[in-house]
Amino acid sequence: MLDSSYSIRTHVAQQLGSDLVGQEVTLAGWVGKRRDHGGLIFIDLRDRTGIVQLTFDPDESGSAFALAEAVRPQWVVEVTGLVRLRPKDAINPHIATGTVEVVVSELSVLNISKTPPFEIEDGIDTDEAVRMKWRFLDIRRPEVTRILELRARVTAAFRDALTAKGFIEVETPILTKSTPEGARDFIVPARHNPGKFYALPQSPQLFKQLTMIGGLERYFQIARCFRDEDLRADRQPEFTQVDLEMSFVTQDDVMNLTEDVLAEVMQVVDYRLPQPLKRITYGQAMDTYGSDRPDTRFDLLLQDVSDWASTTGFKVFAAAPAGGGVVKTICASGAADWPRSKFDALNQKAIDAGAKGLAWMAFPAELADADAIENQIKSPIAKFFTTQELEALRGATGARPGDVLFFVADKQAVANEVLGMVRLELAELLAIPREGYDPLWVIDFPLFMRDAEGERWAANHHPFTRPFDKHLHLIESDPAAVLSYSYDLVLNGFEIGGGTLRIHNEDLQLRVLAQLGHQLEQAREEFGFLLNALSYGAPPHGGIALGLDRLVMILAGRDSIRDVIAFPKTSSGSDLMTEAPSEVTLKQLKEVHLRIA
Ligand code: AMO
Ligand code: AMP
Repeated sequence: MLDSSYSIRTHVAQQLGSDLVGQEVTLAGWVGKRRDHGGLIFIDLRDRTGIVQLTFDPDESGSAFALAEAVRPQWVVEVTGLVRLRPKDAINPHIATGTVEVVVSELSVLNISKTPPFEIEDGIDTDEAVRMKWRFLDIRRPEVTRILELRARVTAAFRDALTAKGFIEVETPILTKSTPEGARDFIVPARHNPGKFYALPQSPQLFKQLTMIGGLERYFQIARCFRDEDLRADRQPEFTQVDLEMSFVTQDDVMNLTEDVLAEVMQVVDYRLPQPLKRITYGQAMDTYGSDRPDTRFDLLLQDVSDWASTTGFKVFAAAPAGGGVVKTICASGAADWPRSKFDALNQKAIDAGAKGLAWMAFPAELADADAIENQIKSPIAKFFTTQELEALRGATGARPGDVLFFVADKQAVANEVLGMVRLELAELLAIPREGYDPLWVIDFPLFMRDAEGERWAANHHPFTRPFDKHLHLIESDPAAVLSYSYDLVLNGFEIGGGTLRIHNEDLQLRVLAQLGHQLEQAREEFGFLLNALSYGAPPHGGIALGLDRLVMILAGRDSIRDVIAFPKTSSGSDLMTEAPSEVTLKQLKEVHLRIA
């Protein structure tokens, strides 16, 4: 906690309370609001810990009174004065020091300030770009200071917990070689080696494995990672991982360790982690939530109605299962009275996400027995079904009066992904409460997935992930069926961590690399140092990396990781304050043997 030690002060704002009444104190900080009242001047003095009211009285404050009339917001001042109780009607219950004030006898101005471009206080609605350009002033606002404080406490809790469990903190290189985590590398020209480049690490993955081969057994690092990818609210080009690796472990060992460490960290926000955490497989997650990072704080589960669909006469639905696809649906309450335009908008979103359409059926709140059900359902497709088919659908899905069924008929992957998106949209549109924390593990990911063009196999996590022992024989013959020792930690719809057991044997590593399209020679060129190390007594090992920014974002109740990074970048990767990236001189370019095309 910040106190007055090692400073020109006797106290910080937060320490002032009724127990100090009558005592002389010296404080320092920034001038906040000033109010002139019936001959008295009141100034809010703010330091990192809080706000305290300074009172200037022409009778008691001497020359400080005149100076108090001159000071302006954000000037930096040092004051000395007596603590006294405020009159009853002047008590401010909204601030911690609200029962007292300091009657100033001496005031000195340590620095002046220009008028800031926005108010230095909480709850302002200033444009983010303006706040980022003036981030040093933004940080001075209590809500931003608090977040950075929270982040530091979370980081310290990780460090303490891991150190206590025998992990050795190791720093790995920033100027290094490409590590394949699926993004583009940031590259740095090497002056001493014309035409050659360093890559900034996408993660310390290979180095942490090398520390295991080096015999450290338990490694961790609060590691900065660099990925040149398209940015989103939960993605920055440089971000921080709590990165760890362990030797002689099973998957359960790594997961249990992670839970124990996270439990200690979550105490920072007084949250008791429910251990052991829930686990679902990747397959279950995709089938029921349409996402490998499901927000499990609400249901709206995906249901497979392929069996029902294949018995109906509606071609679009019957054709999907017949052609190896599926028909899946989400049943939502509260949407039956939506105007047509809302359904159309969601339909368009589904199409944009890759579906052929998003069919829907809205059941009226009251179903009249007298009329056939197909006449009562509001839907662009109900007319294609018989009464019996619709009744069977109601039975299969449990849809009640007032519910809406949303359908996608497509290949399984498309249906899952699109309905996963629709599920989140529905939660938003229907204002479904999503409170608290609901952490879980998603495990057993396939080792391989199709690359973006759908032509080659790519690594689902990274190429160093260990396949299930029982699937080793399928690597070449049926790669899609190979599952891996892998585990993602998911919290409220965000992937806050991911890890795997690793391949610790050169032959297996070469087989997996070959399946990923690396010829032996190319593999040796790119990963020679790892392959070499694997052949010198590599112990079985595995680990995980937690996304520190994302975790702190969730704990701070924010929607963007930019809010929890001291000096973040915009979505186009620039820093509005320093104006990086910026041009360099021709001389600098020449030194590193580069010319701009
Ligand atoms: P992975 O790539 O899953 O695994 O990253 C681990 C965690 O880091 C966070 N993360 C990000 N946070 C902010 N901005 C980004 N651009 C970003 N990218 C990832 C996520 C993610 O879960 N070497 C492996 C870990 C391992 O296998 O041990 C790795 O980096 O929260
Ligand atoms: P159509 O008869 O093509 O106008 O489609 C009728 C309704 O079905 C529209 O609301 C479409 O969005 C929807 N639809 C079309 N194809 C699919 C599909 N593959 N899955 C789900 N809904 C679909």
